[in-house]
Amino acid sequence: MGGAIARGLAKGSIIRTEDICVSNPSLAKLDALKLEFPAMQVTSNNAEAVHEADIVLLAVKPWLIEPVLKELPLDAEKQMLVSVAAGISFAQFEEWVGEKMTVFRVIPNTAISQLESMTLIASHHATQEQEQLLLDIFNEMGLAMLIPEKQMAATTALTSCGIAYVLKYIQAAMQAGIELGVYPKDAQRMVAQSVKGAASLILNNDTHPSVEIDKVTTPGGITIRGINELEHEGFTSAIIKAMKVSCVK
Ligand SMILES: NC(=O)c1ccc[n+]([C@@H]2O[C@H](COP(=O)([O-])OP(=O)(O)OC[C@H]3O[C@@H](n4cnc5c(N)ncnc54)[C@H](OP(=O)(O)O)[C@@H]3O)[C@@H](O)[C@H]2O)c1
Repeated sequence: MGGAIARGLAKGSIIRTEDICVSNPSLAKLDALKLEFPAMQVTSNNAEAVHEADIVLLAVKPWLIEPVLKELPLDAEKQMLVSVAAGISFAQFEEWVGEKMTVFRVIPNTAISQLESMTLIASHHATQEQEQLLLDIFNEMGLAMLIPEKQMAATTALTSCGIAYVLKYIQAAMQAGIELGVYPKDAQRMVAQSVKGAASLILNNDTHPSVEIDKVTTPGGITIRGINELEHEGFTSAIIKAMKVSCVK
């Protein structure tokens, strides 16, 4: 996730590549970044990375946030903290870095590597300008939305877990295609593009899915037959149940 964000930042227009400093214990990962973006600064020393930084972004596993924070010489007056760690609340950050620090919780999904992330952003002690800056940064890596912290668990289920459910649909549709005689690679491209097209219809037209479904369900036709079969098999109910079990508060 950290590597994808660093790459996204470097490709974006808001932060200059030479102003990005990435810290990681693995020299091989740093070498790969440096090869792709020679202007990027890299180090294995976290404290060195945050020295003079305006924005400090943490992309370690949630249980490493506290120990990593302990080694960082943060300045609550001048710096803001951005955490992508799932499940670490603002209350926990207040305990670790004090009450004054501006903190953002950011949850991208894995499509960030394609600059197509759905990124959730919650803010704590941030100004409108700081919120706008974060939105601008992550809107360059897909679509970013500001949400209240209390919606983090539910929206993470929709986006970070939800992307896996969409991939599961792609896998299932491919299996059907293969049984019907379509080559796997062809089925993969056909289904993936259909999913991308469906998402574009919703995002670009800002319409409700039922409006788009209505356009392809001719009375007595083959699509409505399939859709009703999905409902008989509990498709909608299964998605709702999956989202609900993935929503852990
Ligand atoms: N993956 C997702 O879809 C997703 C979505 C939203 C949020 N998140 C959050 O993103 C965070 C990272 O997840 P991930 O899947 O990217 O994990 P990951 O692949 O394990 O990446 C974590 C990185 O942190 C490095 N690291 C370990 N200890 C460190 C330290 N002390 N100082 C600096 N870097 C250190 C690791 O390096 P080594 O490999 O060399 O140990 C690794 O490159 C998690 O908190 C997760 O909750 C993930």
